[in-house]
Amino acid sequence: DDSKSGVKGLVDAGILNIPGIFIRPPDELSAKSTYSRTQLQVPVIDFQGIENSDRRKQIVAQVQQASEHWGFFQVVNHGIPLSVLEGMIDGVRLFHEQDLETKKQLYSFDAKKKVRFFSNYDLYQSRTANWIDTLLLTMFPSDPVTADELPKTCRSTTMEYLKHLSELGDTVIELLSEALGLKADHLKAMDCSKGYKSFAGHYYPPCPQPELTKGVSEHSDSTFFTILLQDRIGGLQILHEDQWADVEPIAGGLVVNIGDMLQIVSNDKFKSVIHRALVNSVEARISVPCFFHGSTAPSIKYAPLEDLLSEENPPIYKSFQVSDYMEKFFSKPLDGEELRDLFKI
Ligand code: SIN
Ligand code: FE2
Repeated sequence: DDSKSGVKGLVDAGILNIPGIFIRPPDELSAKSTYSRTQLQVPVIDFQGIENSDRRKQIVAQVQQASEHWGFFQVVNHGIPLSVLEGMIDGVRLFHEQDLETKKQLYSFDAKKKVRFFSNYDLYQSRTANWIDTLLLTMFPSDPVTADELPKTCRSTTMEYLKHLSELGDTVIELLSEALGLKADHLKAMDCSKGYKSFAGHYYPPCPQPELTKGVSEHSDSTFFTILLQDRIGGLQILHEDQWADVEPIAGGLVVNIGDMLQIVSNDKFKSVIHRALVNSVEARISVPCFFHGSTAPSIKYAPLEDLLSEENPPIYKSFQVSDYMEKFFSKPLDGEELRDLFKI
């Protein structure tokens, strides 16, 4: 029953040494020092003026450049008010910092539950646990989460944020479509933004031995794309040209990254990049990713897009259902392997 208190429960109990299950294997800890942290900064794209067609062309060119070379970019002036972003982060904080009894009632590893709380979604597969607690909302298109199903501590902030994010998701997928040289609605028509989504409120408690563990270990996202809101603490890093680059928090900014599905349908034009979250000993960190998974309808299969293929650019991947991909993603240890390779022709 202790595990239901989450990682925060350990910190609240006053531990000074982290339990062995959180300590990364020695090979991984020594490998970490071979990466030098750099001043590299992922591209920041300003959406101001996007309704103007010349300006939009510039934005599409920046999205293309970032998606091909970085797999990540930050967006500013995306239209979601700062108060809504801050409200969302406060809501996630209130959820995790509320009294334990209420939180424990939501503790579950049942993927069919729409609203649940846990530490480490891969706790039973992974060889090492991550220093993270998560509130997860699963948004089945046929059965969306309603306000009264949300925890009281973050109900109105979440509803408000989700409403804005659904619009921004459509804008982003249109830009990504155009950046691939397709019509703006091409990917949207494939349910890339409107399909199955999940939404996480991550809480990384301060860690007494941050150098021995990780908040989220190295992985690429299984999504089409992910939009992430983070607080001002920092800790997200991406692997860029064999170096770890920090994704520095920007006030009012949102982080967008390409996931495996978009790398696959773009036939490797866009990159789904390895990233991780580090923890610190000083302050709790909050991040709020929204995962756009695409359609999980059994009739829908994804494969490299015909429009992007040619004799010189034959398809690299087979066609498959999103649910097959996700099943493999959630049943493998998160240790930096490339799941995409299993779907190659
Ligand atoms: C993740 O990639 O799963 C989390 C990243 C973050 O918290 O910044
Ligand atoms: Fe991720």
